Amino acid sequence: MTNPFKPTAGMTPPVLVGRQHDLDDFSYALDDGVGAPGRLMYITGARGVGKTVMLNALGNVARQRDWLVIDETAENGFMQRLIDALRKPKHLINAVKLPSASMGVPGTPFDATVALGSVELAGQEHALDFRQAMGDRLDKLEKKQRGILITLDEVQASSLDEMRSLATAVQHLIREQRNIAFVFAGLPSMVEDVVNDKVLTFLRRAERRHLGDVPLEEVRNAFKETITANGLTTDEATLDMLAAATNGYPFMIQLVGYWTWRAADGREDGPSGVLTSGDAENGIARAKLKLGDMVHGPALDSLSPVARDYLLAMAQDDGPSSTRDVARRLERDAGYANVYRTQLIKEDIIYATGYGYVDFKLPYLRDYLREHGAYHQMRRTLEAGD
Ligand SMILES: Nc1ncnc2c1ncn2[C@@H]1O[C@H](COP(=O)(O)OP(=O)(O)O)[C@@H](O)[C@H]1O
Ligand SMILES: [Mg+2]
Repeated sequence: MTNPFKPTAGMTPPVLVGRQHDLDDFSYALDDGVGAPGRLMYITGARGVGKTVMLNALGNVARQRDWLVIDETAENGFMQRLIDALRKPKHLINAVKLPSASMGVPGTPFDATVALGSVELAGQEHALDFRQAMGDRLDKLEKKQRGILITLDEVQASSLDEMRSLATAVQHLIREQRNIAFVFAGLPSMVEDVVNDKVLTFLRRAERRHLGDVPLEEVRNAFKETITANGLTTDEATLDMLAAATNGYPFMIQLVGYWTWRAADGREDGPSGVLTSGDAENGIARAKLKLGDMVHGPALDSLSPVARDYLLAMAQDDGPSSTRDVARRLERDAGYANVYRTQLIKEDIIYATGYGYVDFKLPYLRDYLREHGAYHQMRRTLEAGD
């Protein structure tokens, strides 16, 4: 039997849990007409919380309305890729012309000037070309009440220059009352850098969707629906167990589902066609291991050594940690430790449980740190020796 769960970044899950409200708001914004506030939006949240999947789902909302949807990732050169996508038929003609242009005289001073100038002009030119390309497409689409949605994923600090060009153009298009929507997504601190950029002040007016945990009740229903719709049966207690193991963290829903399904499907002994509590135990254990490789590892890698130490110091506690104890364990004063506390909260890795207390937000991170703590400590020692 095909495993219905999708524990892969960016893969649309069998049931999109807990996000109906966001989709409804976006539908409303599209139907509300030009200039509706929800048409300019940014999505943040920790790794694996479902940002990419959300962009796909919003794209589908627009496609249902027959909009043109262009999905891009904010890697180097995305402005040009957007322009190309908008000018698809023309783009083919450009591609044919390209070789003859580069057949000039390579390495001559003329080439050098062109190259230098193009670096400086690229930003403005891109903004203008993009506006032009959007305008041309919209002229035709708007006659049929259609619009254009642009989604931009993985916004990061390095894309700031191009984000500026894009945002300037989008701002103009909004002012010209064109039928557009623009949604971008990234990790909380990345997106914050972009939104706080002086040039991009208008993005502060964008609606922010900070994605977090989804309700366990909905997780449970999603398990029930997915398991039974795909040909297995299970009991209520097992469903409770599966739901609880996810902590409402979207990536974990798919991991737990996938590995439990695999345990049930691949079992040689016992009842077939039934997903048992034993399968669930098995699957949950595998899911935790995978979560470490796929989420905890990369999340820790992207942190500074002191931020990692902060987490290691927290992992010594079985529940919420006193920020004072953490500072003491780090052998630092409270002010210094607080910088890292703030940073980790912003990244959705920890949260404040009450005054002076913090706890882990990413599920099972404490266990992961306890198991891999020595390794991270060692790496830090290596880094310090560089
Ligand atoms: N609302 C949701 N319900 C169920 N599974 C989800 C949901 N959102 C995301 N997922 C699953 O979680 C995983 C991570 O989603 P993704 O969109 O790649 O996260 P992000 O872009 O925030 O890192 C994928 O396997 C996806 O299928
Ligand atoms: Mg993503």
